[in-house]
Amino acid sequence: MKTFYVTTPIFYANSFPHLGSLYPTIVADCLRRHYRQRGFETYFLTGTDEHGINIQRLAERTGVTPKEYADSVAAQFEKTFSEFGLDAAHDGYDIYMRTTEAFHYEGVSELWRRVARTKTPQGRDAIYKGYYEGWFCASCAAFKSEEEYAKPEREGDPPTCLEHLRPLDHVSEESYFFRLSDYAETLLALYEAQPEFIRPESRRNEVVSFVRGGLQDLSISRQKSSVSWGIPVPDDPTHTIYVWFDALTNYITAIGFGNEERERAVGFEKFWPAVHLVGKDILRFHAVYWPAFLLAAGVEPPRTVFAHGMWLDPTGRRMSKTLGNAIDLAILRKHFSNDAVRYYCLREMVFGQDGKFGYETLIERTNSDLASGLGNLSSRTLTMIQRYCDGVIASPRISEEKYLAAKRAGVDPDAQSLASTLEHARDQFVLHFEDYAMSRALEIAWGVIARVDKIISDAKPWELVKDEGQRETLNAVLYRAAETLRWLCVLLYPVMPESTQQIYEQIGLTDKLKEADPTKLVWGTLQEGTRVGEVKPIFPRIDKQKTMTEIEKETNAPSGTHATEADAVAGAPSNSETKPAAPPMQGATEADAVAGGQTEAQATEASFIEITDFAKVEMRVGQILTAERVPKSDKLLRFTVDVGEAEPRQVLAGIAEYYEPEKMIGRKVIVVANLKPRKLRGFESQGMVLAASVGDEGKPVIATFTEDVPNGARLK
Ligand code: MSP
Repeated sequence: MKTFYVTTPIFYANSFPHLGSLYPTIVADCLRRHYRQRGFETYFLTGTDEHGINIQRLAERTGVTPKEYADSVAAQFEKTFSEFGLDAAHDGYDIYMRTTEAFHYEGVSELWRRVARTKTPQGRDAIYKGYYEGWFCASCAAFKSEEEYAKPEREGDPPTCLEHLRPLDHVSEESYFFRLSDYAETLLALYEAQPEFIRPESRRNEVVSFVRGGLQDLSISRQKSSVSWGIPVPDDPTHTIYVWFDALTNYITAIGFGNEERERAVGFEKFWPAVHLVGKDILRFHAVYWPAFLLAAGVEPPRTVFAHGMWLDPTGRRMSKTLGNAIDLAILRKHFSNDAVRYYCLREMVFGQDGKFGYETLIERTNSDLASGLGNLSSRTLTMIQRYCDGVIASPRISEEKYLAAKRAGVDPDAQSLASTLEHARDQFVLHFEDYAMSRALEIAWGVIARVDKIISDAKPWELVKDEGQRETLNAVLYRAAETLRWLCVLLYPVMPESTQQIYEQIGLTDKLKEADPTKLVWGTLQEGTRVGEVKPIFPRIDKQKTMTEIEKETNAPSGTHATEADAVAGAPSNSETKPAAPPMQGATEADAVAGGQTEAQATEASFIEITDFAKVEMRVGQILTAERVPKSDKLLRFTVDVGEAEPRQVLAGIAEYYEPEKMIGRKVIVVANLKPRKLRGFESQGMVLAASVGDEGKPVIATFTEDVPNGARLK
């Protein structure tokens, strides 16, 4: 039996899921459903990448163990994926892989040992011990070369990762190295021999030229004294295996590499090699390092590494938690059905290219393509069958003596032309799926919808029903519409599993779409006499204006609107208060961040407030867990603050001229917790730290407590 093994990247267990993590999981789920329909034995993996310095640090700061930290993030991922219908209970992934699993430790150690025993094509040891000196980004979990970081503005400061805009760690220590430099030729030969190894083509070319440019050996361990949260190097527990070596290996340990029990339960031999879906930002790890490790260990490389694009915000910036512009999945869930989100992700973003995410376009697509398109075709067809044919699928046959009547009504007496269109569409649809061109496949399906809509509008069944002489024409038209609907359900099931199954049941069909093979669709299989089910709306129309107003309220204010660094500064009025007419972001300078005092009008209007007014401000005790300077800003510090909630908050404060970030860590502060989140220099501030504003220059002095108070306690 043919197999299809598809993987998403395993997500860092340092932040909660967002659109960037949902997207590849939806795509993988869709591909796997398609291949399962076609009778392939499939396996679908997603999960979390739980080791490394980043998680170790977060855990330390939050006062929990790294495992506890990872457990809580993994639980959140599993919950979210379940809500979106992607887990095993919804026929979704087969494994939620966690790199903290014991069998994974075994498999990683086994892979390391195999590589360590190997000689490179040049006859040298594939792993050797050396000394590493350079810059490391904890967020990327990668060492950074000069082109990959921004030099510091002030001498002595660390450089900043261009990806995460965070300061890099200086690493200077003993390390094991993988002799990647000896594998360039082997990799180039792989790319040549296996053209589908890197997709799309443009990314393949990039990787080829990167490898042609020469490869550097790769540091694949950290000293345990600096990174303890990870898998120890076999036979040298003073070193921890580099988190990418560990994480990439999950793709084979999950299916049984290095562990007999899992091999029996799943089957490395059966499922490997896999199709890896990855973001273009992590292509190098998957298309260069990963096959090199595998080739060194004598393991076949993956079948395909497909690099998809990034979801961008309306201003064209990559959406990410770090930049504070990620899509809140709770909002998606609240306003849109899972299938609408899936459809949008697969239709709007050409797989492999970047795409802009917008709630408005999501609403528009839901209304036009789903409510007015597929949903309307389904409800009008089935309602007419209910009304005009007593709820039963009637015979599709138009007898010869009724040919003329049919033609008069603009109906082709023979269904052959429609059947041929559908057969062609089916074949194209499947080919596009095989080519990962889901968006093109959907275009094809919507072409079919348009065609059948036109057949109905031209034939006007509501007129035909008035003429007994047109009974056969009427029956044939409705049969054709219902049969097309059945085909559409089979084709579109992987994209919208819930809605297509509902439509299928409304047609009166009882088998499972999960097992309906799209390549075996044959025209005319819908049985005459099938009783259609109750017709219920599948894709409710969304009121755009109302929903957008709600979403805007729920999300933060659009980036830049009246947001100034002053908002983050204790004791200073915000720009929006003092200069309401200022256009978005214009006039917002760092000077605003420490502007003290009020406008004259405000001063003369001094008045009392009610206790209820005061009660509107929710002030809570917070403890600063992390503190760092905001790149390119003299004024701003960026904190994560524990205010007694499940997750710490990110809060910005314009106090960088007066407070050293390192000295702030651990301090108890007062946080205004219900302030509308604002974006400052690309970071979302989820509250404000209170400080007195002292002297003419408005020097901030942070308010604090002299007694011990628990985090989250409210000030009244
Ligand atoms: N842990 C590593 C992967 C290890 S795989 C052996 C990692 N994790 S991640 O959580 O940072 O990113 C996971 C995936 O999410 C990446 O493929 C990344 O491209 C994707 N996305 C994150 N933000 C994204 C968008 N805005 N748009 C689309 N996908 C994006 O890297």
